[in-house]
Amino acid sequence: MTVYQKRRAQIAKALKAAGGGVALLPTAPEHPRNRDSDFPYRHDSYFYYLTGFSEPDSWLAIDSSGKTTLFCRPKDLEREIWDGIRLGPKAAVASLQVDQAFSVAELDTQMPLLLSNQAAVWFPFATHPGLETQVDGWLGKVRARIRFGAECPQSQHDLCKLLDEMRLVKDAHEIAILRRAGSISAGAHVRAMQTSAAMLRKPAKSAGYVVPREYHLEAELLHEFRRHGSQFPAYTSIVAAGANACILHYRADTAELKAGDLCLIDAGCELDGYASDITRTFPANGRFTPAQRTLYDIVLAAQEAAIKVTKPGKRFTDPHDAATRVLVQGMLDTGLLDKNKHGHVDDVLLSGAYRQFYMHRTGHWMGMDVHDCGDYTEPGSKPRQERDPLGDMVMKKPPRILRPGMVLTIEPGIYVRPAKGVPKEFWNIGIRIEDDALVTATGCELMTRGVPVKADEIEALMRG
Ligand code: GLY
Ligand code: MN
Ligand code: MN
Repeated sequence: MTVYQKRRAQIAKALKAAGGGVALLPTAPEHPRNRDSDFPYRHDSYFYYLTGFSEPDSWLAIDSSGKTTLFCRPKDLEREIWDGIRLGPKAAVASLQVDQAFSVAELDTQMPLLLSNQAAVWFPFATHPGLETQVDGWLGKVRARIRFGAECPQSQHDLCKLLDEMRLVKDAHEIAILRRAGSISAGAHVRAMQTSAAMLRKPAKSAGYVVPREYHLEAELLHEFRRHGSQFPAYTSIVAAGANACILHYRADTAELKAGDLCLIDAGCELDGYASDITRTFPANGRFTPAQRTLYDIVLAAQEAAIKVTKPGKRFTDPHDAATRVLVQGMLDTGLLDKNKHGHVDDVLLSGAYRQFYMHRTGHWMGMDVHDCGDYTEPGSKPRQERDPLGDMVMKKPPRILRPGMVLTIEPGIYVRPAKGVPKEFWNIGIRIEDDALVTATGCELMTRGVPVKADEIEALMRG
């Protein structure tokens, strides 16, 4: 059995356990960019998870007996001359190990047959615009045949609920790809750091000198991703020189990389449908200033504290809490937060004053999607009363308990915008350090440590 067959069998089993039914799943649509050009096509992650098939215009149906049906684009010589080879329904049966396959042109005639006499229909809710209307149309066709003995599904369920749980815990096949994606991305960060140092070493008046800019480093990242077979970046690369690092969703633009400034790169490749997500912050010329180094070491210590509690049995929020505690201590020690005004670490954690410099969470699930699916609270648990950071009581479900096979990022940061009362030496410094962690039986494996993270090691790499 292929991994895709195994996953489909697991879905069939879940449908059976829920009283029978059929699951329907389309892949992603193509998106026009302008005139005859489309955006690069990217399959739907759920669909790919169950098929390994990346052609557009495809659908999958699985029923609780385990029978699988695929719909795909028909063979069409004219279209294949222009757009490329299509698998076609005939070859799809053997190639994708499905029980039957039809042309997508037969969707509206076949779906009502697949839905007839099924107890329930499962499809992804609120993810594919127009899907509910399509399903309604097919159910209407089934109902029109009731007199001829067809029974209409009595209930509808969100297929994401089943798939999200499956996708949250990665199997060996997925882990192997994630490791490779992480290693390619780490190599790309190394290359960007080295390029930055080399460009800044070059005297401004020398032959062939070009002003080093953010996009030069982005080009190095993309080159390294692609030359190792990555199909796309997993998200738009952030290459942020100097103060731009304080803009959380900045992208690589034209700003100059200057000696004395930091550069923050948040970039990762997508490989065979799986993401990676790395952030490194380094001095553009390879040498941290004392103020940069002070904040850098705080962020690194925060990440180390988070890594220590990324292990089975801990909650999803434990790494965030551990990192935030270290960051807050650092903010008080450096005077970013005035001790006289803000008090001790616990006071700051409660008041939330640290959010001036640290306004995001310390991680997210990662997998096929860079911000991957999966419940962040423990399934089946009851909401309980808790005090929120502002002191109000709120009802919250307890956070997810970490288990081996889960993959999450660990990405603390500090971002200092110029403001009254903030020591000037730290103004415009933005630092984030991000690695991708696989929860193992005893702790976690960082899949992205092919790029140095300690300040001394970054400096050594950039000197080399
Ligand atoms: N690169 C997206 C993130 O770090 O969440
Ligand atoms: Mn991330
Ligand atoms: Mn990131």
